[in-house]
Amino acid sequence: MPASSSIDRYVVIGNPIAHSLSPAIHARFAEQTREAIAYERMLVPRGEFAAHARRFFSAGGAGANVTLPFKVDAFEFADSASERARAAGAANFLAARDGHIEADNTDGAGLVRDLEDNLGIAIAGARVLLVGAGGAARGVVTPILARLPAALVIANRTLERARELAQRFGDRGAVEAVALDAISGERFDLVLNATSASVQGEAAALPEAVFAPGAFVYDMAYGPAADAFLARARERQLRAADGLGMLVEQAAESFFLWRGKRPETAPVIRELRSSRA
Ligand code: ATR
Repeated sequence: MPASSSIDRYVVIGNPIAHSLSPAIHARFAEQTREAIAYERMLVPRGEFAAHARRFFSAGGAGANVTLPFKVDAFEFADSASERARAAGAANFLAARDGHIEADNTDGAGLVRDLEDNLGIAIAGARVLLVGAGGAARGVVTPILARLPAALVIANRTLERARELAQRFGDRGAVEAVALDAISGERFDLVLNATSASVQGEAAALPEAVFAPGAFVYDMAYGPAADAFLARARERQLRAADGLGMLVEQAAESFFLWRGKRPETAPVIRELRSSRA
């Protein structure tokens, strides 16, 4: 075990992981809050999550963020899980507490905070369309419903998966499922893309009729992965944002859970946007 004076060690685990912005984000948070931490990337081969996570925590690791494709593995690995991680069946956050590994899911909180606090978009009372029914979508349904939208419709290429997701969360509010190619007639104030990054182009082909006047379009991916979806929205003169703010907000929520201090996200989002512009 490390001496109590040693720096707490954190990692972000994924595959691929080389381009993760999480180390840079947490380094900024640590500077701001004067917390001494180390935060690194950890590349883990598919199918080997548990072995690597166990080794990291056995060696005194304090916590981990977990990204694709290991969020379900992280949830299963942990000894206990928060309600929001249990609702999602997936975790992007692990913390060692008294020899016990706790899981949480800060993605949904990150999305809601970015939409409401940074972008000024009200979820309460809005008609929300969530495109996609995979892991990324599953993590955000409960936090969206908690904001009391007028409606939440999940649209997915495979209708069955959208149905499963809607049923899973059905007791928390009105959730409907539709096939992606069968959406018509209904208009939405907020359209969220949660399909995988590699398929943004295809998922972008939503009919004009789904966008209410002044609708806001949000892609949970960021950078080039979000380009196609957002470009289509901007062609339609709609306001749109990628998920960079969500990434920083889920990191801030993680940092808060680990360190008990809430960092300021706005300067970090600005800095990342200008360095990527
Ligand atoms: P993630 O964890 O990123 O959500 P996932 O669980 O594999 O990854 O889910 C990928 C999502 O993108 C799913 O909603 C998937 O639709 P299906 O359930 O029909 O597979 C969606 N997706 C993948 N390829 C797509 C395509 N070509 N067009 C539209 N949606 C697509």
